[in-house]
Amino acid sequence: MGNRTALEALTQRPPGFLRSAWPWRCVAYLVGSVVPGAAVALGVLAVGLAGPPVGLLLVPPLSALVVPLIARFERVRLRLVDPVPLPPVPDRRRREIGVAVMTVFAMWWIDLVMLGFTVGGPVLLILSPVVQPEAGPVPGAVAGVAGVLLLPVAAYTITAWGGARGAMVRAVLAPAGSELGEVMRSRARLVDAFETERRRIERDLHDGAQQRLVALSMTLGLARLDVPDDSPTARLLDVAHDEARQALAELRELIRGVHSQVLTDRGLGAAIRDVAGRSPVPVDVDADELGRLPAPVEVTAYYVVSEALANVARHSGATRATVTARTAAGTLAVEVRDDGVGGADPARGTGLTGLADRLAVVAGRLSVSSPPGGPTLVRVEIPCAS
Ligand SMILES: Nc1ncnc2c1ncn2[C@@H]1O[C@H](COP(=O)(O)OP(=O)(O)O)[C@@H](O)[C@H]1O
Ligand SMILES: [Mg+2]
Repeated sequence: MGNRTALEALTQRPPGFLRSAWPWRCVAYLVGSVVPGAAVALGVLAVGLAGPPVGLLLVPPLSALVVPLIARFERVRLRLVDPVPLPPVPDRRRREIGVAVMTVFAMWWIDLVMLGFTVGGPVLLILSPVVQPEAGPVPGAVAGVAGVLLLPVAAYTITAWGGARGAMVRAVLAPAGSELGEVMRSRARLVDAFETERRRIERDLHDGAQQRLVALSMTLGLARLDVPDDSPTARLLDVAHDEARQALAELRELIRGVHSQVLTDRGLGAAIRDVAGRSPVPVDVDADELGRLPAPVEVTAYYVVSEALANVARHSGATRATVTARTAAGTLAVEVRDDGVGGADPARGTGLTGLADRLAVVAGRLSVSSPPGGPTLVRVEIPCAS
């Protein structure tokens, strides 16, 4: 169960593997090589019989006939060891020809030699009492037992070769990444869409709501000047003015969460010190000498620090936290530690998994170490060679 290919099946426990169909499928897969083998033998025979000038002229049309057939055959029999559907690729013809050439020149005879040694050997040993009765019953019995003991070994060898051969064929038919590419790109699309939305919200808040609040606050201030100090209206206006100021401060905070002006203007180091300074838990920051990094790297790292420090404040119960950020060998490494209760589990929230998705886009990595009882370490690495 759960083994999609012969190679994956090898990692199973031996009893399960030996009882599975995979060794047999691999034998069937490799036995199939008699087909290209026979085609090659017939071709060589035909060219040889026709003699030098005509024979050489026969090579191109024969190849044109045989190569596509072998290519189809390889594609179909691959399902025996690797039934995962092949992704569509634009240059499929060229790739199939590659597989056919590989089969014709090398693989078919390697397959048959492998079969001969791994399966033929034990089978001959088992049959030796029958084939060589003159050797006597005792050597015959010993050979038979040895042959039976070799069978499980043969199952492993043959599955390893069958699986590896299948992996080679798949690698030629479907280049690495042709399956993963779409997922990555759709994630990139998602984050792009999020980024656009984030900028729109920031602009709306900044140009709309914030300007209105500023105007409201000013109007209230002016109205207050027109009212005598000891009237009840003055007190109410003072309160309203105060509330407007507070709403403005909260809105500015919100805008900063959506978009950090410090980050854009002064870079990651300054932005980290800025978030750390606003954290209710005291934070030590070591982020000097970062310099400016590519914008996507800075923004992603900033989100990681903001989220990690928000988590420290919300979940950890820590008394102190530390943020370190360094670049070395073209990689930015940021670590956020706290001395809190630990037990952070990405599966229980959306923050950490959301960060992991963002990181995938910049080819970064997020790791979390948070044993129950603490401490918690969130580490992120982002390649930043531009
Ligand atoms: N620094 C931390 N210390 C202890 N627990 C944490 C810490 N960070 C996260 N957690 C735990 O891990 C869960 C997942 O975190 P996260 O993905 O950020 O989700 P949330 O949206 O709840 O913050 C949190 O609900 C919390 O229980
Ligand atoms: Mg969180």
